[in-house]
Amino acid sequence: MDKALKKILADFTKNEGNIISLLQNIQDAFGYIPEDAVYCFSKELDIPASRFFGIATFYAQFHLSPRGKNIVTTCCGTACHVKGSERLLNGLKTELNLPEGEHTTSDREITIEKVNCVGACSIAPVVIINKKVHGKISADKLMKEIRLLRKQ
Ligand code: FES
Repeated sequence: MDKALKKILADFTKNEGNIISLLQNIQDAFGYIPEDAVYCFSKELDIPASRFFGIATFYAQFHLSPRGKNIVTTCCGTACHVKGSERLLNGLKTELNLPEGEHTTSDREITIEKVNCVGACSIAPVVIINKKVHGKISADKLMKEIRLLRKQ
């Protein structure tokens, strides 16, 4: 019996659900999943770091690099694309002075993200700023929102 319990405990410790919880806790603590934390838990739990990274890269909820205090998500699905989402995104990059390939401002105030369809195509183009949905948003309105964020 004791041996069986140990096995169940060992399986529970090493199952993916537990890794997901662990990754969620790491992300809650740091705002993202630092590489050092993964290697630390990998060693502690004797689980290959690749399993942590595999899960962390599979689920969109996990982030392996630091994110900004504010998250600006631009929908680039078909309806939003047709309504000019790429233009909005390029305007954002210019406004935030983001170098190519960079998604977070150097002061870590704002991170921009791109997603495919948030399910609100009837109000395209859609931009989500800190979980608040802005439908039929114009470039001017978006820049106003961004400048407001920077003032806060
Ligand atoms: S394509 Fe943007 S909400 Fe559907």
